[in-house]
Amino acid sequence: MTTTSGKEIILGVTGSIAAYKACEVASLLVKRGVRVTPVLTCSAQKLVGPASFEGITGNQAVTDMFDSGQNQEIEHIAAATRADLFLVAPATANVLAKAAQGLADDWLSTTLLATRAPILFAPAMNTNMYGHPATQANIATLSDRGCHFVGPDSGTLACKTVGAGRMSEPACIVERSMRLLENSDDLKGRHVLLTSGGNHEPIDPVRYIGNSSSGKMGFAVAEEALRRGAKVTVISGPAEVAPPVGCKVIPVQTAQEMCDAALLIAPGADVVIGVAAVADYRVEHPMTEKHKRNGNDLTLTLTQNPDILAAVGAQKKNGQITVGFAAETGDLVENAQAKLSKKNLNLVVANQVGVSDSGFGSDTVRAIFVDASGAVEELSLQSKGDLAHSLFDRITAILA
Ligand SMILES: Cc1cc2nc3c(=O)[nH]c(=O)nc-3n(C[C@H](O)[C@H](O)[C@H](O)COP(=O)(O)O)c2cc1C
Repeated sequence: MTTTSGKEIILGVTGSIAAYKACEVASLLVKRGVRVTPVLTCSAQKLVGPASFEGITGNQAVTDMFDSGQNQEIEHIAAATRADLFLVAPATANVLAKAAQGLADDWLSTTLLATRAPILFAPAMNTNMYGHPATQANIATLSDRGCHFVGPDSGTLACKTVGAGRMSEPACIVERSMRLLENSDDLKGRHVLLTSGGNHEPIDPVRYIGNSSSGKMGFAVAEEALRRGAKVTVISGPAEVAPPVGCKVIPVQTAQEMCDAALLIAPGADVVIGVAAVADYRVEHPMTEKHKRNGNDLTLTLTQNPDILAAVGAQKKNGQITVGFAAETGDLVENAQAKLSKKNLNLVVANQVGVSDSGFGSDTVRAIFVDASGAVEELSLQSKGDLAHSLFDRITAILA
């Protein structure tokens, strides 16, 4: 069941040339039955007026922290607590920097700190501002903290440059907002088990063989399962980002540890998803003392690790769904089809690695679904959160 009607969104509008498009965002949200509280920064008010937002939403626009009438209930705290979603559209480079730093020098930035609602930013700015390392670092910080992003799109910007920085289309921002607002419980009562991150296979007590998995995809899958009401267990190898709040995390280092934990827990799970970039090989005899340089070359013998998904697939119980991620540099569909039958899986998510906008560490992904019926669906470049959403739409359809 999904319900967004009667939910409350704070719509933060900041000083971008795209601020006028926020009127359409507000209008579309109101049409979806959402209560919208518009908040305009001082810069935004130089570009659009509060009256438009008040007319569209039927609610008073917040324009100043110390406005009379704002403080009987300490309104920014009350609104922060009430909100089901905090949307900033458009989001300037400035507001992203302030939010990343935790600055609170106006109503919008203060309320961003006070809220525990999901936060969705729709960045809009000049291409150089967007690509600047400071802006990229701020986006990475906010993203690691669990903030959501929609866009920006690429194209010709108001400043006549061509590139990334144009605010996403209002309809797209509203769709994304609706998804974050959804009170979906289609996985309630279900247990989702997933492996995530990479592995560290020891060479000696201080060195290991590893891979570049960041854990971002696995944790996006965990977050989506939690949002749909599932009990979520994550067997997590080393990762760069923190797991979402609410799931049970079993930390492991090696593929063998990951496999042992998976085989132990899988029988009690309704859905098992192998997102981890599992190490195929380990050092046969890791050294017990730190190896010192001794003037000779060093040869390590590698031995195969267990195939976790194949082992889980072999003991698969009736009605259980098993899904595998396949990180590939080429032949995505062929590799996915082979994996599907070999490991007794319901679905394979083949994802492209080795390119800048998809794969390890990236926030976006290019993926193809290949299912047990042979159907192949290629998805457009999208965020890992969006891929997780589509994945669970398919999983819940199979479960139903
Ligand atoms: C006409 C005009 C358009 C602007 N468009 C943008 C923009 O699209 N993105 C951006 O980050 N800043 C833009 N700026 C600069 C911001 O308004 C400025 O950085 C301001 O301090 C942002 O304040 P705020 O984040 O509190 O709204 C623009 C400024 C002007 C005068």
